[in-house]
Amino acid sequence: WGDEPLVMLMDVGHAYEKNDSSTDDAIVFDCVELCVREKSRVTILGENGSGKSTLLSIIAGVTTPSEGTVHRANGLNIGYFHQHSADNFVSDNIDSDGLVTALSFLQEKFPSKTEHDLRSELTRFGLSPKQAGTNVRFMSGGERCRLSMATMCLEDPHVLVIDEISNHLDSESVEALIFGLQKWTGTIVMASHDANLVRSVGDPKECFVLFDRKLQRIEGGIDRYLQIAFHVDW
Ligand SMILES: Nc1ncnc2c1ncn2[C@@H]1O[C@H](COP(=O)(O)OP(=O)(O)O)[C@@H](O)[C@H]1O
Ligand SMILES: [Mg+2]
Repeated sequence: WGDEPLVMLMDVGHAYEKNDSSTDDAIVFDCVELCVREKSRVTILGENGSGKSTLLSIIAGVTTPSEGTVHRANGLNIGYFHQHSADNFVSDNIDSDGLVTALSFLQEKFPSKTEHDLRSELTRFGLSPKQAGTNVRFMSGGERCRLSMATMCLEDPHVLVIDEISNHLDSESVEALIFGLQKWTGTIVMASHDANLVRSVGDPKECFVLFDRKLQRIEGGIDRYLQIAFHVDW
């Protein structure tokens, strides 16, 4: 696409319709401008309820914003990871009662890839040869999350949109995910509370915070954010 942004948000705002009879809809944010360029590592910060998940689902094309325009490059493939993807990975993808291992699952899904390539992808996300041969039904939440990220990377999307991947994961899984994502050379847009993940995978120059219904770039990245958040009530 040359210099063309992969995803561009222009004057985007979103409000969820209220179920009760109170008048105005709940505005999550408005006037959001964001440009995601190829190979960039965008991080969205902000406290709970500030709208990170809403913004990521708009970027991923799952939610249509109530205001503004979203432009995506032609033919753009987006891999979207959110809490539901890890939780429901097994039930969404595997319906047989027989033995399905991480490796056999990938072999069926990617018949043109060699076993070596599939094993390397699993290793990249910290799944050992033994774990590659474990029945997916008995894999831990962290292992399923790593398998689901490995699967997403094998699908080779142009952009990975990752919403709070490290929540509820053991530290070994977080380390494995950081390692795998550092090796991934594509574009990433993520929301995370995990400073280690953000420092290792994100780009401090492409760090934004949702605060007071606006998206602002935060120069200096998560460390500056934490410094400010410590003094001011974000
Ligand atoms: N499907 C929905 N319907 C109504 N309100 C929602 C919905 N999803 C999120 N919200 C509300 O929108 C606001 C932003 O939520 P969210 O995007 O999940 O924030 P974050 O990911 O930063 O915690 C919150 O006040 C939340 O309650
Ligand atoms: Mg969220």
